[in-house]
Order: sequence, then C-alpha cells, then structure tokens
Amino acid sequence: MKPVRVGLLGLGTVGTGVVRILEGHQEDLSSQVGSPIVIEKIAVKNMHKTRTLTVDPSKLTEDPWEVIRDPEIDVIVEVMGGVEQTKAYILEALERGKHIVTANKDLMALYGSQVLAKAMENQCDVFYEASVAGGIPIIRTLIEGFSSDRIVKIMGIVNGTTNYILSKMSQEGASYEDVLKEAQQLGYAESDPTSDVEGLDAARKMAILGTLGFRTNVELSDVQVRGISNVSKEDILYAKRLGYEMKLLGIAECQEEEFSITVQPTMVKKTHPIAAVNGVYNAVYVFGEAVGETMFYGAGAGEMPTATSVVADLIAVVKNLRLGVNGLKAIVPYKPKKLKTDEQ
Ligand code: HSE
Repeated sequence: MKPVRVGLLGLGTVGTGVVRILEGHQEDLSSQVGSPIVIEKIAVKNMHKTRTLTVDPSKLTEDPWEVIRDPEIDVIVEVMGGVEQTKAYILEALERGKHIVTANKDLMALYGSQVLAKAMENQCDVFYEASVAGGIPIIRTLIEGFSSDRIVKIMGIVNGTTNYILSKMSQEGASYEDVLKEAQQLGYAESDPTSDVEGLDAARKMAILGTLGFRTNVELSDVQVRGISNVSKEDILYAKRLGYEMKLLGIAECQEEEFSITVQPTMVKKTHPIAAVNGVYNAVYVFGEAVGETMFYGAGAGEMPTATSVVADLIAVVKNLRLGVNGLKAIVPYKPKKLKTDEQ
C-alpha cells in the first residue's frame, strides 16, 4: 500500500514524542491502518539545535510553508502552538485538501468553528484530542461515546501545573510562591506561568469541552475565570480542616437551553473522587442524563501521554483516508444555547 505522508509542524516536547511513537510502534501502526505512516517533513524553529532524538536532517526545514505547500503530504500534524500564524498555516493546509491533527487548545478554543467549517468545505478531517487533558481521550468520548446521551455537567481538573501547585500546598503546607518556583524548575510551569495560574489555559480547555459536551458553540468569553494566584496556604489548610481539598476546577453545566461555565479555585469534598487527583494529573467528570456519573483520569501533559493522543488522531485520519470518509468532526453549526448569567 502507498505510504501516508505526514508533515510535522513543531519538534518540541510533544513533536519529539510523536516521532518516538511513530518510529517505535511503526509495525503495529502500519498493520492497523494497512500502510506505512511516513514523516515527510518537519518544520522546526532551529535546524541546528541539539536534540534528544536523531532525525534525518534532510527532512527538517525552518519554513512551515514548505511543509504546508508540499503536494506529497497528506496529513499535517501541528504541535508547534501559537494562534494567528498557526491558524493561517492550518487554513491553507485545509484549502489544499490536507487533513489536520492538532494539539492546539488555544487555536481550537478561539477559532475551532472556523477551522472546522473550512474542514467541512474541503472534506478534510480535523482531529484535536491532545488539546484537552493530554493523554485522556476525552474529546473522542464526548463526541462519540456520549453521542446518545444529554450531558448536563462536566467538571474538570484540566490544568496540570495548577493542580501540582495546589496539591503540594495541601500536602506539604508550602506557600504558593515556593511551589510555583519549584514547578517552574521542574519544567511544569512556563517561565511566564500566567495562562496556567490565572486559569486561562483551563478556560480554553473547558470552552472546548463545553462546546462538545453541550453541542453548542461556547466562546472563550463565555467562561468566567479566576485563577489560583490569590490562594493562600491558610485557605487550603482551612478547607482541609472542614473536609475539603482546594482544586482549580472547571465546571460546565447545561440545563435545557442554558449553559454556564466557570473556572475557579473550588473546595471539593474529600469524598469526591476528583479531590484525590493530585500532582500534574488531570481528571474529567462527566454527568449524563442517561449514563449518570463517569470519570476519566490520567496524565494531562508531558511528551509521551500527549503524543499518544496525537498519534491516535493520526491513525484515525489514516483509517478515514483508507475508507474514503471523514469523521469524528463536530457537525457544525451546533444548536445555539444561551449563556446563563447571574442576572437571569
Ligand atoms: N500548561 C498545561 C498544563 C500543559 O499545565 O496542563 C498541558 O496543556
């Protein structure tokens, strides 16, 4: 069978994991999809950087357009991040009939409906499992697994950095500032950790989950956000004394035609399974009218867990290519629902 040719945008932590899985599992992957999956080109920031894995230098380019415009490439895997410029690459790739796998929650939260509409127009796939909760297959689950149900509530610990900070403050009585410094040293938090600690990263992920779970179009501005930078160790100790753990919780609820989504530090009763999610782990609790309570737990970030989701998406694209179909795409337009506000 003719190989499926992939263009990779980005060779950072996740991109490196993608290459490792594609190389390490090549035989199994090829037999699943019936043809080899070959990385044709990789766009990187710096071609001369020392890397932890060996890549054929002839595949590297510093110009992402070279990857997008390569007529041999069937699928673009975008793990470079960024929003406006990256959106331009992806829209152009879709125009050219290339399928997309992306881990980009910022792009999907802000421009998901535009990207998906362009994909529909060009009969292309867009898969974005790794954009929320790293290695947990929650997007697939919401689109497919719960397609028969009506989801009324989604609660998530969807940011690993803040969960690490709050867990350490709770377990060791450490201060916010000290644990943040440690999280930065360990590489969990960015050197500018604003989007993690102020809840923006979690808000973007909750906007995606709300869109899929409630089958409507949730805008990022629909999410009310408060981060953890004002949470003191005293707040956490006080909560513990009352039988609660403090978590940065995304809560999305939908009743009839109205929904609400918040991200804020929340006291969770210790008996709730989400209270036991510690460290950089993520968890998503989903309550459906018919199914009742369900919960999904796993690594929310990191090279191999996130790459697992990216490569699973790639396999799904390749299976669709083989079958001559597109799939697992949100069918747009969704049914509009009203944002519930305090005044109502
Ligand atoms: N900064 C994110 C987190 C990375 O800490 O969860 C994964 O999206």
